[in-house]
Amino acid sequence: MILGVTATDTAHAPVFALDQAPLDRIAAAEGTPCYVYSAPVIRGRLAALQQAFASCAYPTALHYALKANSSLGVVRLVREAGADADANSIGEIEVALRAGFRPDQLVFTGVGKSPAELSRAVSLDLKAINAESPGELDRLDALARAQGRRVRVALRVNPDVDAMSHPHISTGLRSSKFGVPLDDAATVLRERRGSAGLEIIGLHVHVGSQITSLGPLCEAARKVAGLAVALRAEGFALSHLDLGGGLGIVYDTGEVPTYEAFARALVEVARPTGLTLIVEPGRTLVGPAGVLLARVIDVKPHAGGGRFVVLDAGMTELLRPALYGAFHRIVPVQSSTRPLVPCDVVGPVCESSDSFGRARDLPEPEVGDLMAIMDTGAYGAVMSNTYNRRPLPPEVLVQADGSWRLLRRRQTIDDMLALEEPA
Ligand SMILES: Cc1ncc(COP(=O)(O)O)c(C=O)c1O
Repeated sequence: MILGVTATDTAHAPVFALDQAPLDRIAAAEGTPCYVYSAPVIRGRLAALQQAFASCAYPTALHYALKANSSLGVVRLVREAGADADANSIGEIEVALRAGFRPDQLVFTGVGKSPAELSRAVSLDLKAINAESPGELDRLDALARAQGRRVRVALRVNPDVDAMSHPHISTGLRSSKFGVPLDDAATVLRERRGSAGLEIIGLHVHVGSQITSLGPLCEAARKVAGLAVALRAEGFALSHLDLGGGLGIVYDTGEVPTYEAFARALVEVARPTGLTLIVEPGRTLVGPAGVLLARVIDVKPHAGGGRFVVLDAGMTELLRPALYGAFHRIVPVQSSTRPLVPCDVVGPVCESSDSFGRARDLPEPEVGDLMAIMDTGAYGAVMSNTYNRRPLPPEVLVQADGSWRLLRRRQTIDDMLALEEPA
């Protein structure tokens, strides 16, 4: 029995090793709400992905997308396990550097990079900056020349591909704000071929996140690979093809491609180009490795006949359900013989969107019960916020032997007010 889960939940057990972890002791020591991550699950998933690409025998670099989870302890773990990194802001770059990454292990993406971000990124001599527009290329060129450098850039291409994911996390359609339209990309690069500050070394594409089939990933990859071959024929000295992140995880039911199938599919597209393949996985590495622990703080009848179960975690700790209607399994930490009853599981924040799930069958919850909100290792803590003056939650990392350490303590009111004028 894993965390007292039901039969369907055990499908997740092979990738979720927190059953060894003393979740109730962590909750008692650190309080709730609290994020808990499994180090062996993160290491295991990264090793499996590395192995899947290694068995394709093609030059590939895995750049962990920090946006999924950028806690210093997690980023350090991923670096020690052999990944490179993908950053979406200067803040993420600074965290990556403090986690021990070298600048030549970092690619920098981002639809809008401020002058300060561009300047710092150029000065760091990163592996590549993924440029999102002709204007950004020109700004990079000017900054690089002013600093007496050449900056390595890849152009982010918008391939007009539907990721078939939630619209808010689909980024590859013509109508979305990301990248340069595929049809314009060659012209944009030709016009900047002689730019003294630019070294054009690659193409980049990322069509979205939580993608559960290979089709959109391959379609985008093929379009960008075709462009890369054409540009090389014109004499562009490209060295890599960055195919972004996006591989989904199983939150409820359904399937996602295996790492082997994912790696084979991308390598098959990249191989004819002869270019090094870069991928930027985030969610798939850390999503299933985390739970958000929360306690039941109220149970009350519901006009529709069920009950509201109010947790001490809300949209402030885990925004995804409110933001995208995202599904997360909710599992009691202690097994129970109480009868299953339908529950609307909600948070304490003063917004009706602060809800984690409607009509969930749970062993009749009581105030004080500890719940685990599953698969919250990605896009969980990174999106937490202090709305309603709720402090940022702590984050804990558990090792295979059940020992654990605090990666981030709970924020205090004094921490929050430290940024404000004195009381
Ligand atoms: C440019 C870029 N690369 C990589 C990722 C990571 O995506 P995922 O977490 O779905 O693997 C994202 C997230 O959307 C992204 O915007």
